Amino acid sequence: KMTAFIDNLLGKMTPEEKIGQLNLVSVGFDVTGPVVSKDVDANIRKGRVGAVLNTYTPVAARKLQALAVKESRLHIPLLLGYDVIHGHRTIFPVPLGLAASWDLPAMEKTARIAADEASADGVNWVYSPMVDIARDPRWGRIMEGSGEDPYLGSQIARAMVRGYQGPDNDLTRPNRVMACLKHFALYGAAEAGRDYNTTDMSLQRMYNEYLPPYKAAVEAGVGSVMSSFNDVNGIPATANKFLMTDLLRTQWGFRGFVATDYTAINELEAHGLGDDKKVSELALKAGIDQDMVGEIFLNNLAKNLADGTVAQADIDLACRRVLEAKYRLGLFTDPYHGVSEKRAKATLMKPAYLADARDVARRSFVLLKNDKQTLPLKKTGTIALVGPLANRQRDMIGSWSGAGDWKQAVSVEQGLRAAAPGVKIVMAQGANVADDPQMIDRLNAHGGELNIDTRAPESLIAEAVAAAQSADVVVAVVGESQGMTGEAASRADIGLPGRQLDLLKALKATGKPLVVVLMNGRPLTLPWEDQNADAILETWFSGTQGGHAVADVLFGAYNPSGKLTATFPRAVGQIPIYYNHKSTGRPYAGVKLDKYKSRYLDIPNDPLYPFGYGLSYTTFSVSRPTLSAASIGMAGALDVTATVQNTGPADGEEVVQLYLRDVVGTSTRPVQELKNFQKVLLKKGESRTLTFHLTVEDLKFYNNDLKFVAEPGEFQVMVGSNSRDVQMASFMLTQ
Ligand code: IFM
Repeated sequence: KMTAFIDNLLGKMTPEEKIGQLNLVSVGFDVTGPVVSKDVDANIRKGRVGAVLNTYTPVAARKLQALAVKESRLHIPLLLGYDVIHGHRTIFPVPLGLAASWDLPAMEKTARIAADEASADGVNWVYSPMVDIARDPRWGRIMEGSGEDPYLGSQIARAMVRGYQGPDNDLTRPNRVMACLKHFALYGAAEAGRDYNTTDMSLQRMYNEYLPPYKAAVEAGVGSVMSSFNDVNGIPATANKFLMTDLLRTQWGFRGFVATDYTAINELEAHGLGDDKKVSELALKAGIDQDMVGEIFLNNLAKNLADGTVAQADIDLACRRVLEAKYRLGLFTDPYHGVSEKRAKATLMKPAYLADARDVARRSFVLLKNDKQTLPLKKTGTIALVGPLANRQRDMIGSWSGAGDWKQAVSVEQGLRAAAPGVKIVMAQGANVADDPQMIDRLNAHGGELNIDTRAPESLIAEAVAAAQSADVVVAVVGESQGMTGEAASRADIGLPGRQLDLLKALKATGKPLVVVLMNGRPLTLPWEDQNADAILETWFSGTQGGHAVADVLFGAYNPSGKLTATFPRAVGQIPIYYNHKSTGRPYAGVKLDKYKSRYLDIPNDPLYPFGYGLSYTTFSVSRPTLSAASIGMAGALDVTATVQNTGPADGEEVVQLYLRDVVGTSTRPVQELKNFQKVLLKKGESRTLTFHLTVEDLKFYNNDLKFVAEPGEFQVMVGSNSRDVQMASFMLTQ
């Protein structure tokens, strides 16, 4: 039915109208790139636009859609895209925070709520999920993904696609949106963590460590894909036929359409691939279907057609894929996708969604340290609430929260005051979040609205020290401003910016218990903080209800359960650092004076906080795993069981993690790889035996010939509370 409908439509279209469908224009904002489209309305009327990005609200969306379906010759509806990344109006924690919840149903729910809100607000296409594996916290966009692990990243990719598109992928339903998988591919491997930088890696690493989450989203039925900006092994992704066609479509069977990132075809010129006409040809032939904002296709494909560098069939194919997306969304039947002001009013930021935002936020927090049960805090006495982020609503919702209204966000101060009206709270800013004038200007220019106190740094610190001296406990809310992570926000030094560390040192000197509440979108280097704070709670940028969620955890209404999904290094010099690394031929086993080993002279190899790490207000023990078989054959499977016990003073949740090591193979293999996990709630004293089912599929990897194989030999199974604290058993895979 769809094919016949589109055949018929294509039959009526002029070559110009077909090229028009390959054109994605931006209205209104310039936050995502340097160019904003011109003459949008006129071009829509002329059939020169296939999709629009950055329009929302029922009125604006209906107005644009009406131009297309009432005033263009063939009445073809528009795709209306928007960066709905971690919520639409109700903002959830940034994706790196969401991932730290290890709670797949909760993450799926955030995508479902985002779909409900965005679709009610006129959006039918969202630029999420972002599944780029990242092992370099200097890269500002590590905040937008799930961290460093391909297995967890794949689970999250599936959950997010299901949330946006529904379990049946029926996009005609009014509360569904089409998801856009990004950024294909390897954007997270930018050299030196500098945004847009080159990536170059072996195919084996690519297949085993970076591609799985993209593949998982394709298998889940994601409707569209966004090409990435970066160079991949010598061919920028946007001109890369291997990625866009051979891998995505031929090997993985993707049937949706591919749009570029913002002006990515134009940027092929700076990459050095040729002029406008040449890059137009290269992108289309690589398998790109829609050009985001750059108007390269719009202005060049007719010339390419005329000189034979592209064929009409190439344009028809891309146009067909864009039209199919519109068909799948049901836009030819209802171009407005059920949008109405009434629906928007009943949906956007409704109380149930705010309650979900609060719950998922507190589930995303990671307790990094808690000496002498400093946390939870009592609801009595005086708290010195200091730090540049303590009363910040703007930063709460994080970067990529375009339709979120930060004025409706709950700050930490507001959350604490609401939760504990009987507690006296003494405030002091103590430091600015940044002191480099260039960084301040840049952040302010891009919507950061920083609250810079221009008094001398020493007097800010002195004020905070005075507040601390008058209090029973100090809660210092420090970290990054929201604009320090996200696109074009790489940092070379990932310690606390500005004078915030000096502030913490002065607070420590008061002798008062020091609770550090971190707000940031990347792993930070925190050696002093780890040694000196009494408690450290990582809260990321936690969204609309963040302040309430922080209060829930600080006062013990919720027992923290998050675990890191990206390694926290001791120092920038360790980067890239990730748990699933290889052994080397000279692994360092921690023996002093062992010179010719793979190690640093000045710091340990291991990270400050490893992948999978996070504490609770209770304690857990996880037993050594037992295996249902000592060996299995090539069609076999086995069960791994381990008992987890809540051994501490409170009810709580633990994420029990299972890692594998393929001890001997034809290729070198990582020292451990996450293969499964379970998040369980245990009452005080309760224990539970967990079973993990392993099949030969779990043992497979891409060998040097890129064949997905399991190789006979020993496998070690490690189970524990994080990637470092595990116990081991082993079995044999036999021929
Ligand atoms: O979706 C984004 C992408 O992640 C970065 N460049 C701009 C796009 C659209 O805003």
